[in-house]
Formats: sequence, structure tokens, C-alpha cells
Amino acid sequence: MLETKGVSKRFGGLVALHDVDLRVRDGEIVGLVGPNGAGKTTLLNVISGLYRPDGGTVTFRGEDVTRLGLDRHCHRGIAKTFQHPQSFPGMTAAEAVMVGACFGNHHTPSRDEAREEAEAQLAFVGFPDGKTGRLLAHLNLMELKRTQLARALACRPQLLLLDELTTGLNPSESAEAIDLIRKIRDEGTTVLLIEHVLRVITGVSDRVVVLDKGEKIADGPPSEVLATPRVIESYLGRAAAA
Ligand SMILES: Nc1ncnc2c1ncn2[C@@H]1O[C@H](COP(=O)(O)OP(=O)(O)O)[C@@H](O)[C@H]1O
Ligand SMILES: [Mg+2]
Repeated sequence: MLETKGVSKRFGGLVALHDVDLRVRDGEIVGLVGPNGAGKTTLLNVISGLYRPDGGTVTFRGEDVTRLGLDRHCHRGIAKTFQHPQSFPGMTAAEAVMVGACFGNHHTPSRDEAREEAEAQLAFVGFPDGKTGRLLAHLNLMELKRTQLARALACRPQLLLLDELTTGLNPSESAEAIDLIRKIRDEGTTVLLIEHVLRVITGVSDRVVVLDKGEKIADGPPSEVLATPRVIESYLGRAAAA
């Protein structure tokens, strides 16, 4: 479904990504992990079209989408949630999701249709029924995350990119988020997610890709990858790997 080949991205003199190859197959849940600053968010931003890489290509369903840009990636079926919920505090939850339904794909629903779609997506992600008319400024973190997820799903993506969806959530909320990610995949959407809680990644991913200092250092089944010395070293230091 998705392939990056030799993707590189620099910010001034800093190499955030170096020569990254990544493949995501239809129907997979792939976990992207690595220490802080490894380049995970940057890679997701390149895949979503927010950043154009300095080198390499991004292919989605056989089409080179490397230089198309965020809106056109979204229209082709790649939607993303952000690590830090960036939203309009003066919008209601339903309105925020309607934006996805109206602008995130090639459909042009009427206002009523978009509202219906928004209510359906909010219900799907377990957003509290009575709060869809509340302003985002008045929602708690879990409600904001559910809203973001519903907005991304309202774009009707084939590939959903999740940047640290469970960060800041308590263990029971995290467990709910994991169930939700599985449910989304079971409904036919492929998922590429960044997580820093390894328990979340091993619990939900079919495959894990590890980045360290902008380079891919491992790729495979969670149990195998997380047992490799280079991965242990990058997380816990050289002594732990010895
Ligand atoms: N917009 C940006 N401008 C400058 N440097 C950036 C920008 N985004 C990320 N970086 C740098 O690139 C590196 C990788 O960052 P990031 O992709 O956010 O890592 P991760 O998500 O794995 O923690 C870090 O050193 C970070 O400071
Ligand atoms: Mg990040």
C-alpha cells in the first residue's frame, strides 16, 4: 500500500531522516518506535504530505505522491492525527469532525450529511453522546483524542497515521485506545502508528519498525525486534544490551 524509499529530511544542518525505507501492507497495523528525536514524527509528516523530503520517494498504491502536499495525500486516502492536538478551541466536536467529512475526501456532502457523518464517527470512536455540541476548549484530553480520531476517520482514509495517540492517557484509557485501533483496522483501514509506550506497541502491532537518529535500525515482528541488541541499546544504553 505504502512504500518509502531512501527518504531523507534535513532541518538546517540537522539530519532528521536518513535513507529510510518503509513498507506498509494493506490491512496491517505497523508500529513505529524509537527514542525521542529519532525522526518518527518527521517520517509521518513526510508520508502525510506535510513535509516534502530532501531525498527519496513516497509511493502510495503505486502512485508517486512524494511532492503532492497534505490535502492531496488526504484526498488519496492518507489521514493523520497530530501528536499535539492542534485544533480550533472555538469549534464544537461535531464541527471539527465535519471539517474532515467536507474537505478530507472527494465527496461533497451537504451540511446535514456532514453532520450525520460526524455524529456517526464520534459514536464509533466512543465520544460521549451528549457532548458533541461542546466546544473543543471544554473537552478533556481523551475527548480531544477521540475527536481527532473521528475527524481523521471522516476523511475516509485507507491509511491512518496516528502520532502518539495514547500519550497522556491513563492505563484504562490507553487500553480503550488500543481496542479502538484494532476496531478501525478490522473495519478495513490500515494503520501506521507512533507510540512510545512499548506495551501499547507490542499489544497492537503486527510489525514494528524502529528508528534511531533518523535511520531505520530494525523491522519485523514485535517480539523479535524488541529483543535485538541494537534496539535494546538504543532504548536503554549499551550496558543493557551487553
Ligand atoms: N520543524 C522542525 N524544524 C527543525 N527541527 C525539527 C523540526 N521537526 C523536527 N525537528 C528535529 O528533527 C529531529 C527529529 O524530530 P521528530 O521527528 O519530532 O522526532 P520524534 O518524533 O521521533 O521524537 C529532532 O532532532 C527534532 O528536534
Ligand atoms: Mg514525535
